[in-house]
Amino acid sequence: MTVARYFDEMSYGPAPEADTEARQWLARHKGEFGHFINGAFVAPSSGKTFETFEPATGALLAKVALGSAKDVDDAVAAARKAQGSWAKLPGHARARHLYALARTIQRHARLIAVVEAIDNGKPIRETRDIDVPLAARHFYHHAGWAQLQETEFADQVPVGVVGQVIPWNFPFLMLAWKVAPALALGNTVILKPAEFTPLTALLFAELAAAAGLPAGVLNVVTGEGETGALIVEHSDIDKIAFTGSTEVGRLIREKTAGTGKSLTLELGGKSPFIVFDDADIDGAVEGVVDAIWFNQGQVCCAGSRLLVQEGVAPLFYERLTRRMQSLRVGHPLDKAIDMAAIVAPVQLQRIESLVAKGVAEGAKLHQPKIELPKGGSFYPPTLLTNVQPTSIVATEEIFGPVAVSMTFRTPEEAIQLANHSRYGLAASVWSETIGLALNVAAKLAAGVVWVNATNLFDAAAGFGGKRESGFGREGGREGCYEYLKPKAWAGRKLRAAPAEPVLKQATGDFAAPSLDRTAKLFIGGKQARPDGNYSRAVLSPKGKVIGEVGEGNRKDIRNAVVAAHAASGWASATSHNRAQILYYIAENLSGRADEFANRISAMTGVSAAGAKAEVEASISRLFSYGAWADKYEGVVHQPPLRGVALAMPESIGVVGVICPTEAPLLGFISLVAPLIATGNRVVAVPSEQHPLAATDFYSILETSDVPAGVVNIVTGSAMELAKTLASHNDVDALWAFGTQELSTVVEKLSAGNLKRTFVDYGKATDWFDRFAAEGQAYLRRATDVKNIWIPYGE
Ligand code: NAI
Repeated sequence: MTVARYFDEMSYGPAPEADTEARQWLARHKGEFGHFINGAFVAPSSGKTFETFEPATGALLAKVALGSAKDVDDAVAAARKAQGSWAKLPGHARARHLYALARTIQRHARLIAVVEAIDNGKPIRETRDIDVPLAARHFYHHAGWAQLQETEFADQVPVGVVGQVIPWNFPFLMLAWKVAPALALGNTVILKPAEFTPLTALLFAELAAAAGLPAGVLNVVTGEGETGALIVEHSDIDKIAFTGSTEVGRLIREKTAGTGKSLTLELGGKSPFIVFDDADIDGAVEGVVDAIWFNQGQVCCAGSRLLVQEGVAPLFYERLTRRMQSLRVGHPLDKAIDMAAIVAPVQLQRIESLVAKGVAEGAKLHQPKIELPKGGSFYPPTLLTNVQPTSIVATEEIFGPVAVSMTFRTPEEAIQLANHSRYGLAASVWSETIGLALNVAAKLAAGVVWVNATNLFDAAAGFGGKRESGFGREGGREGCYEYLKPKAWAGRKLRAAPAEPVLKQATGDFAAPSLDRTAKLFIGGKQARPDGNYSRAVLSPKGKVIGEVGEGNRKDIRNAVVAAHAASGWASATSHNRAQILYYIAENLSGRADEFANRISAMTGVSAAGAKAEVEASISRLFSYGAWADKYEGVVHQPPLRGVALAMPESIGVVGVICPTEAPLLGFISLVAPLIATGNRVVAVPSEQHPLAATDFYSILETSDVPAGVVNIVTGSAMELAKTLASHNDVDALWAFGTQELSTVVEKLSAGNLKRTFVDYGKATDWFDRFAAEGQAYLRRATDVKNIWIPYGE
């Protein structure tokens, strides 16, 4: 290029960042890395390594240890040994360690940014200005939570030893998102970086040790998917935190089912980017650049589905394609480029093949006529228009710089299109009309919504998805809870199997046939006969038939789920309204306390006083959730960016509840009340052995203004009905309290649509203990926090 041409084009020349220090660091390690276990680099026990390449050139960067079962064992042993003393440190001491890590990241910011850019292929501009500063911010923020742990999380204890498996798209930032909260709150970690990008994790481990982090607190085991699987399946790990593809997330859900490991999954997305005709069009065009060409589109929350209002679509596409022409694709270390390399040839091929399929299905391809660097894995910024909502490119995560676009006419249609996805990670809404933007934001099925912005992140604002984008949150107070568990649950013991009464045919009973006392099911606010027309006898402890209930089946559950969906208005009822209804239920129960106490006594054999105490505790619990209904609220985050983020707890949706056999009334209320207090609709299966307290409850619900479909009750076999609920794709969460086997089945079958589960692994809860059986631990599981970022102030 000649100087004259530069003047002509007014385009930037190359501005390369030096990589001397990064290359020296690699050379110091002779281009070969072991695992980082117990405070030092150790060679892989199998002697096996794998190679990591520079995506921009294809050149070999380093050889890295391939983690075997023995390596994972060693890392887990080191983490286990360190965990006790790490957790016992005063929060202030851990806060100082986290602070030291934040300072270390800042002191070595450029080295980390360069190593990241060459190992991942992303532009230095992004690693330097986004990934590394945000990672430091994460450690600062969580140093604060460590400092406040004793007072702010006094009722919680650390989970223990945590296995963390992370992807390659933000290798260093994802490390920070995972490691900072885990360590801050007293856990120790085995981290496995992705095979394409292991280097910054190893660099960080080395820097952390130099900054005085005690040995064993953070261990890095490198390897491929098999190494990740070894971590997931290790029996001495208490929690798995995973970010990556939905396929692997689903596999991990299945593998951890029933093990008691806690689990958070941050998975894929196909996030909508909605442009209304009153949007600032140029702003929205720049938004698309940040939404889908940032990090070459290899972003789980990338705004990859453009939904543009019809009237403005031609103008929008014209400006967008013009803007695409000015994007520069170049070497990651060139400071003057917009996009750099795709992480690996296999990812490049995946992008190419998906785009080809989209075009074959009728999409129109727009790519700028720009030069791509030779040698490495590069792909141009791409827009596909004329895309059908069912096209593979509109439903599959491409994970590349490819935006697909559709048009819509009305806000309702935009919402429908936006929510037409198995994912629910993020969304971006562009409109200059505040009422429209916020109305739409509230209706989007997404964990994060950006108004007139995109891809904003902060350590104080939780991040995570709904639906098949996974569960759990990273960042903020809600992210801290993912690494803690309630103290009150610590002493729970396996519950004894309930004694099965044997049916005694007391011949005399036949002499006086009583009225038909078969309780029906309760579906959509009405009593309904069970589809199969079977009933089951309810026996007293002495084996006497004291009633009959319907034997619910698959069809009954399906009907109940339909009814529960139809009652979606409950989610938008005011919290004052929900509170009033919970108090009203309590009042009506109180009016019939003796009758319910007698029933409990007859079913369970518990003394009259014991039964009365259960009814009283149930009334009190209903009051508690009436109280919480208008007090379990969100917060407003003030991130160090323009704007605020509203963190709003939202109902999860339709939730199945398998009630424990014991405490037939109190167990039922303890699980159903927090769910309806927060706007969920419930399909409850009452105590299998003692269901009559719940079936008697129909009339209380009918007289307490509970809208039809908010609470549905299906009696029958807990295991069979749990299986149906767990494999039902329109059930969003399943709570199941019973046997260990029930927990395993529920967690495993819930992998299908990745529904949220809350199970007890057969450990009995003391339902009378308010600390163990009531409160925020339940409300948190009944809600998902949605963060809505809105412009605010200058
Ligand atoms: P992946 O989900 O296979 O890899 C993520 C991490 O999981 C890596 O550390 C990998 O070694 C590990 N892993 C793989 N199999 C495992 C197993 N069975 N058990 C435990 N850990 C395992 O993602 P991959 O193959 O690198 O990318 C494929 C596609 O996944 C991408 O094209 C993209 O669509 C999606 N993806 C989404 C991400 C997100 O943040 N949502 C991140 C990375 C990939």
